[in-house]
This record gives sequence, structure tokens and C-alpha cells, in this order.
Amino acid sequence: MSTQGIRDFRPHIHFTPQKMWNNDPNGLFYAKGVYHLYYQYYPEAPVWGPMHWGHATSKDLIHWEHHPIALYPDELGYIFSGSAVYDEKNTSGFGTEENPPVVAMFTHHLNVKKEDGTEVGVQQQSIAYSLDGGYTFTKYEGNPVIPTPGFPDFRDPKVFWNEQRNCWGMVVSATDRAYFYASSDLKHWEKTGEFGDKENYANGMWECPDLFKLDTPDGEKWVLLVSMGRGAEEAGPRIQYFIGQFDGSTFHAEDLGKDEYFNCGRDDYAGVTYWGTQKRTYIGWGINPSYADKTPTGEFCGIMTLPKEVSLVKTPKDGYRPAFCPIQYQQYLGTERGLSKTDQITSETFALTVKGKGKATVTLENKEGQKLIFGVTEDNRIFVDRSNAGAKDFSENYTLPIMAYNDAKRYYDGSYELTAVFDVSVLELFADEGTRYFTDVVYPDSPYDKITVTGDVDVTYADVAF
Ligand code: FRU
Repeated sequence: MSTQGIRDFRPHIHFTPQKMWNNDPNGLFYAKGVYHLYYQYYPEAPVWGPMHWGHATSKDLIHWEHHPIALYPDELGYIFSGSAVYDEKNTSGFGTEENPPVVAMFTHHLNVKKEDGTEVGVQQQSIAYSLDGGYTFTKYEGNPVIPTPGFPDFRDPKVFWNEQRNCWGMVVSATDRAYFYASSDLKHWEKTGEFGDKENYANGMWECPDLFKLDTPDGEKWVLLVSMGRGAEEAGPRIQYFIGQFDGSTFHAEDLGKDEYFNCGRDDYAGVTYWGTQKRTYIGWGINPSYADKTPTGEFCGIMTLPKEVSLVKTPKDGYRPAFCPIQYQQYLGTERGLSKTDQITSETFALTVKGKGKATVTLENKEGQKLIFGVTEDNRIFVDRSNAGAKDFSENYTLPIMAYNDAKRYYDGSYELTAVFDVSVLELFADEGTRYFTDVVYPDSPYDKITVTGDVDVTYADVAF
């Protein structure tokens, strides 16, 4: 349960719910100049509960307008995670050619009592449509469109366009793997394949899959993202990725067996990408599920990551890796200035670039002496140290070391360029063209107002207007 907030930890350029609880981003779609964001929402308390889809829209993915709840629980259960598409050709028949529908696909989760008195979750896939561009939805009377396969964990459908078959495609998590489906009308679904039985080298349940195609100099490649409910011993849940090919029926991975988590920080989970954007645009739930409900943010509990463009970058050591680069906030950057070794921080929301070579640290500090430190170690690892950055006693997981090798070794001379965006209570740090990045929340008693830099680096600073 969230405690009373020590102070206002609400970030300025990251999405947060007005009040109460959010987890996963859902139904991300872009149409007619508007980005829609639905999200797992519990409107009664700042903790997880019977799930609804909350709703917000934005023109720039930075400033959000809040809207009424889009989907409420019903007799088939809670409304778990899912996706949305703009059905422009009205293949579903829910709208007309002049007014095509937005179709959302989500998991209905029902707790059912067994004979022995224990409860079991039943999960099935359902759809709902909107004829007003995504503001209000009607649930399809034929729900569920994919009934339970007879095991409990079957959720988080992500709809995409299946070019090979010229129909809708969908990927959904099924315990420890992904199932693929095809449909011509979003109502009738046929299973076409499975992935993960052999490839799931990291134990854990799969959640929130996403599948999309990206261009590379070596041709098109498909990326499968899967959130993994990992144990606390591994610092909680992470997002895994696979790169490979989708043949219209199933996914085939290349290069298995590497450490394939893409966010090196702790606070990015259940992330998926937008339908309908030119750039492949990603948003994640910006907090670790293992301590999300214990953080001291008060009347709201939940945050989304900054939007990021996903691409594939060829690294000399690991081959292709997905790169995540923050977008959109740059248009609100104030004048950049070079920093001296010790300097003032003039806003609660600001961006830094750190260019240099060798060991370096950047310390953000407040008047209480709490410090958020990040930088590069002697052996070329990027790190974030929040062991004394502010409130921390809410979880043992929270202060575990956060570190990753810098692939920038590719430059062979150990030089690097880091970009950091700090926003009240969250740091997002990017290295090596976005192939290494960190999202980490902090709860300092008062704003960090002093910055200290060590090492052979040039640092620039700019406030971000909000
Ligand atoms: C991921 C998740 C999803 C599920 C939702 C329920 O955080 O567990 O798998 O649909 O949250 O809120």
C-alpha cells in the first residue's frame, strides 16, 4: 500500500494517472494526429485491483489529456492488457466505410471458485469497438472471441497486420510461450503457431508480447518482445527480446542464448509499441512490478516511460540489438549550457549529455545529502547508483546494483556518449545509440539542486520546459 507521499513526486513529462493505480500501457494506437494511451487502471485505490482500461490522449506523447474510463469489468471478468487497431477498411463490420471503427482486443480475467474453495483464473480474449475514434467502446456481444484453452495464463493479445496472409495477426502469451493467431475480421481467430517451448531459456511466465518488423541494412527483421515475470532474486520482472523472422504463421529466432534483456535499469515492464505510427514507438510501465505498490507517491501510483523509437543496431560483439531512443521531449529543451565540475540544477526536469572517455561519475544531490549517481566504471560499465538517492526502505530489491557493459567498446578507445533525462522522480539514461538504457525511479526528500561531475568528460545541461 502506498504511504502518504513525502512530497509531490509526480513527473512532468512522463505520464501518470490523475489518481490511483496504473500498470501496463494498453491499446496504444495513433490516428488522425492523436496518440491514444489506455492503461491497466484501478480507480478505487493506489494499488492493483479489479482492472479497467483508463484512457488518455496526447498530440506529442509528452502532454496528456485524461479521459473517462474506456472499459469496465463485467460478468466475464476484469479487463486485462491488450491492444487496439484502427480498422480502416471496416473488416470487422462494426463501423462503416465512412466511419471505420477502432477495435480493442483484451483479456477477460475471471476468478472462478473451485470445489475445494480455492480460486483459479480463467483468461480469454475479447474485443470491443469504438465508433467515436477511441473515446467510448461497446463490447462485442460474441465475447470471448478466443475462449480459454484450459490453462490459467493466457493473456495480453497484441494485434498486428499479417502481410504474408493479408489478414490480421495476433500474438498472445500462453504460460511460458507465445501463440500466434490469424483473422480476417478480428472476430474469428485461427491459431497458426507457437514460439518459446525450446527458446525460453530464462524461466518465467510470459506476459505482454509484441511483434513487429524493422528495417536493417541486412534486410527486414522481426522483433518479439516478451515481459517476463522473474523472481526477486533476479531483481524482479524484465523484458526479454528475440530477433528473427515471422513467416506468417509463427516466429523463428536467430542467435538464441544471449542475455537478451533490453532495459538495463529496473523500472520498465509490460512495454509495447504503437499501432499506426511512422516510427516504431514504444512505451513501458515505468516501474518494477515487484515494488510498484510500495513506492511513496501518495494519491497516485504508476508511471509510464518516455516514448522511445525502436530500431535495430548492429553491434560488433552481439550482432543486432534493439535500440531504444527517447523521442519528442527534445522539442521542449531549453538552451544548452556546458557544466563546470560542480554546478546548479535549475529545474526538476532536465536533460544532460555526457561525452568522454574512461571512468566518470555524475552526481545529482539535494540539500539532505541524498545522491543519485550514474556514470561509467573503470572497466567500461555504465551504472546507476540509487542506494542513497532518497526513500528506499520500501523494498530490498530497490537498491540492488544496476549496471551494464557499455557496448561502446565498439569505438575501441573506450569513449562514450550518454544522454540522461531526469524528471522529478525518474531517470532515463541512454548509452551506445540506445542499445543500452536504464529507467530508474527515485524518491528524494527534496529536489536535487546540485550536480557534481568527475572524470574526463564534457557535460551539457538543459532544462526541459513542461
Ligand atoms: C503485466 C500483467 C499482464 C496482465 C495485467 C493485469 O503487468 O500481469 O500480464 O494482463 O498485468 O493487470
